[in-house]
Amino acid sequence: MRVDDVADVERLTAQAFLDVDERNRLPGAAPPQLRPDDQAAQWRRRAEHALTHDGAGCWVADSSNCLVGAAISLRRESMWLLATYAVLPEAQGQGIGRRLLDTALEYGASCLRGMIVSSPDPRAARRYRAAGFDLHPMMDGVGVVRRETLPVPERVREATTADIDLADSVDRRTRGAGHGVDHTVLAAGMAMLVVDRPEGQGYCYLRSPGAVYLLAATTERAAAELLWAGLASGTAGESVQVPHVTAANQWALDVAVGAGLDIQTRGYLALRAMRPPAPYLPSGHFL
Ligand SMILES: CC(C)(COP(=O)(O)OP(=O)(O)OC[C@H]1O[C@@H](n2cnc3c(N)ncnc32)[C@H](O)[C@@H]1OP(=O)(O)O)[C@@H](O)C(=O)NCCC(=O)NCCS
Repeated sequence: MRVDDVADVERLTAQAFLDVDERNRLPGAAPPQLRPDDQAAQWRRRAEHALTHDGAGCWVADSSNCLVGAAISLRRESMWLLATYAVLPEAQGQGIGRRLLDTALEYGASCLRGMIVSSPDPRAARRYRAAGFDLHPMMDGVGVVRRETLPVPERVREATTADIDLADSVDRRTRGAGHGVDHTVLAAGMAMLVVDRPEGQGYCYLRSPGAVYLLAATTERAAAELLWAGLASGTAGESVQVPHVTAANQWALDVAVGAGLDIQTRGYLALRAMRPPAPYLPSGHFL
């Protein structure tokens, strides 16, 4: 994959994920939308960041000079991470995805551990299991926060760039590898909250007010405080999502239930040589 490919890859992944969302739409849910312009711009920035730091982990598949698929993977310390993986809907099921994933996995050959946030697409689940990953079902908390239930988050504060070292050390303790250079991109584009007390540390990125994107902590109490603070930052009446909760993170379900959200199952956390991280809510792109 080259920088010139980024715009086309963004469009093809947007189409592939719209197709998955349409196929998995729950009764009564709003129709899914193609990735909007502001999120598409963020997507392109993330892809350019991956090309800068992990060029050998980024691959495209082309057929008759037209891009039909892509895989973007990262290496952080001893961990390999799949950040994006998609084939155009009309080209799926023909073995293109297998070849893309095999090539991306070669980039992670020196890494013991691996992590993928899998969509609910059965093709993706087949590919990851066939590649030796353990599949851990995930849940989302979804709905409108009952604001009268919100506790006052006394120990949570806004982060500064001085907190990046703390974040990397919490990453190592929870998922086994720091986010390293990814924290720079994350902190530049998103609000970051921190708990830093002797009895518990942690951090959380918010994609927008109320939208928790990535959360890691050394104790469940610190994790729950961060999640409550993240939910509290949203606007009254707006629907929110607590994403990517594995069974190892019941504390997040307690917060979701306490906030009046519904719990739904969606996708898998696919892991190699590691247990589901906790207390931890992975992001889809930087994991
Ligand atoms: C996941 C994805 C990248 C795989 O690419 P692909 O080109 O379809 O993959 P392949 O053809 O190599 O493999 C698909 C597998 O699913 C099987 N399959 C095909 N259609 C299927 C269907 N409708 N239901 C279940 N399995 C199906 C194929 O037989 C194959 O399994 P096998 O190799 O054991 O026979 C692609 O399907 C996709 O873009 N999906 C939507 C986006 C997505 O969910 N991406 C994953 C993000 S985590």
